[in-house]
Amino acid sequence: MAQREPIGVVGTGYVGLVTAAGFAELGHEVWCVDIDVGKIERLRGGEVPIWEPGLEELVVRNRDRLRFSTDVGDALEHARLLFVAVGTPPTYSGDADLSAVRAVVGAMPASDRHALVMKSTVPVGTGASIKRVLAQEGKGGFRYVSCPEFLKEGSAVADFLHPDRVVVGDDGDWAGDAVVGLYAPLGAELVRTDIASAEMVKLAANAFLATKISFINEIANVCEETGADVLEVARGMGLDDRIGPKFLQAGIGFGGSCFPKDVSALKQLAGNSGYHFQLLNAVIEVNELQKRRVIGKLHKHLGTLVGKRVALLGLAFKPNTDDMREASSLVLSARLQADGATVVAYDPVAAGEAGRLMPGVELASGVLEAVAGADAVVLVTEWSEFGELDWQAICAVMSGTTVIDGRNALDPAAVRAAGLTYEGIGRG
Ligand SMILES: NC(=O)c1ccc[n+]([C@@H]2O[C@H](COP(=O)([O-])OP(=O)(O)OC[C@H]3O[C@@H](n4cnc5c(N)ncnc54)[C@H](O)[C@@H]3O)[C@@H](O)[C@H]2O)c1
Repeated sequence: MAQREPIGVVGTGYVGLVTAAGFAELGHEVWCVDIDVGKIERLRGGEVPIWEPGLEELVVRNRDRLRFSTDVGDALEHARLLFVAVGTPPTYSGDADLSAVRAVVGAMPASDRHALVMKSTVPVGTGASIKRVLAQEGKGGFRYVSCPEFLKEGSAVADFLHPDRVVVGDDGDWAGDAVVGLYAPLGAELVRTDIASAEMVKLAANAFLATKISFINEIANVCEETGADVLEVARGMGLDDRIGPKFLQAGIGFGGSCFPKDVSALKQLAGNSGYHFQLLNAVIEVNELQKRRVIGKLHKHLGTLVGKRVALLGLAFKPNTDDMREASSLVLSARLQADGATVVAYDPVAAGEAGRLMPGVELASGVLEAVAGADAVVLVTEWSEFGELDWQAICAVMSGTTVIDGRNALDPAAVRAAGLTYEGIGRG
């Protein structure tokens, strides 16, 4: 493989580590930097601290090209492009917390041979403000590129290697050309644009996907009132080319580290700029209410929840990840406990993180252990293994008969054939 230029990646979380391993796979030496000393030590020891399909293999295969450090100076010494992939969590106001991004920018020396390439999701205007700060500090030679990330946890490695598109927002200088060159081997459609538009593409894309989810959830809720089945409705809608079948799965709402915070950040950004983004208010409100609809369904079947035992299957915010950020299971378990229920839960990979985030919840090591003695079972995250459950065996150990399918992922006939009562979301 031809020698490719070394690059730096600051932040070794879901985005940073996948980006680093992906570029290493393309032949680059990658200098990975994180302030989390423990994480860097684990990575140096060959351990991958997050659970993401295919990532460990990629890191192991490219071990010789991946360097790990807590000192951004190491990356600056070896690479001219520094990808920034630090977290931008929400503040109490709903704005994006840019303190980690600012810390990275603040650590940059004066240089006319380096560029920051922003992978973190940031509000529109962040690039302009970073360039202003760098110029005020006499570091105006530092270039800036916006290169938002669209990978999905659970398929992040495949998404890096086969992106739908690559968006590069820049000032038309060497740095933008270099980033375009880095991604060229992937053969993806390129959107090269200005920095503000690139920043907006990311926020608008996530807000649109979240809107699609809240829309189908509202259709599901109307289906419940009118006797229609949202699965049939979504199938009929999704076959329309203009709509498409993706993100039309009704359920108990979206969570995760991106949609909730990015929708809220766009709403805040609009508000701060003097525009009231009405639609996004509704998207957020519908999602919050949707997470709680399961409680109403449980009341319908069980009456009071005081003293009832409820088993949650799946805790991660979606399948194939250990990420619990903003997971629907967090809201659900807290509400159930507040209503007097005992909550027992099982997740194939997220149990460790869940133990820390869900005080009072009993964690089981398997499905049968979780449902033993339960008055009701709620499917929260549609891990594929839950599609093949032995409902006869489950029925034999449950105390009650209620099964709430929060993701419409179970086979209602199989559940009912075992003598259990099935209820999904929006299924008439
Ligand atoms: N997770 C996703 O699916 C996804 C997808 C697209 C975009 N994004 C965006 O990418 C960014 C990163 O997300 P993530 O999920 O990878 O976050 P993460 O929390 O998994 O990782 C962030 C990492 O940055 C490190 N960090 C924080 N401050 C630092 C500093 N000053 N210097 C060096 N390292 C520092 C943290 O220790 C952590 O390891 C966010 O802006 C997010 O919105 C995330």
